Amino acid sequence: MPKALIVYSTRTGQTKKIAELIAEGIRFGGVEAKVVSVHEIKKESDLDGYDGYVFGSATYHGEMMQGMKTLLFLAEKAGLGGKPGGSFGAFGWSGEAPDRIYDTMKNVFNMDMVSGSLRLKSAALGGGIQMAQDYGREVGKKLAK
Ligand SMILES: Cc1cc2nc3c(=O)[nH]c(=O)nc-3n(C[C@H](O)[C@H](O)[C@H](O)COP(=O)(O)O)c2cc1C
Repeated sequence: MPKALIVYSTRTGQTKKIAELIAEGIRFGGVEAKVVSVHEIKKESDLDGYDGYVFGSATYHGEMMQGMKTLLFLAEKAGLGGKPGGSFGAFGWSGEAPDRIYDTMKNVFNMDMVSGSLRLKSAALGGGIQMAQDYGREVGKKLAK
C-alpha cells in the first residue's frame, strides 16, 4: 500500500487539525497516511520510505514558521523529485505560507504537485473540513496511480 507523510508546523493547533483531515482524505483512497509535527523530523532519513509528501505551516508575520523553513532545507537533499506533493496551512488574512511551501516543493524539489496549495482560515470554518478531506483525496489519487 502506498504511504504518504504529512508534516505540519503550527502555533495554536489549526494547521495540525487541517493535517489530520487531509490524512483522512488520503486514507479514503486506500493510501496510508502518517501525520507528524516538524519537530519530529530531525534528519533527512526521517523522510525516507514514503511515496508522497504534504507539508503545511500556519502564516505568521507574512511567512511560514521557522520549523517549516528548517524542514524544507532538510528535504532539499532527501530525493523527493518526481514524487506526489501538496501543501497547506491555516491563516488569518494574507496566508503566504502554503504557496511558499508549494513553490519550493515544485521548483526546488521538482515534485509532482497537486493543482495548488490548500489555505484555510481554520479547519472548521467555511467548509474547511470538507475542503481538507477533498485535498487529501486529490493527493491520494496521485499516490494510488
Ligand atoms: C502575531 C500573529 C501574526 C500573524 N500574522 C499573520 C499573517 O501575516 N498573515 C496571515 O494570514 N495570518 C496571520 N496570523 C493569523 C494566523 O495565521 C492564524 O491565527 C492561524 O489560524 C494560526 O494557525 P495555527 O493554529 O496553525 O498556528 C497571525 C497571527 C498572530 C497571532
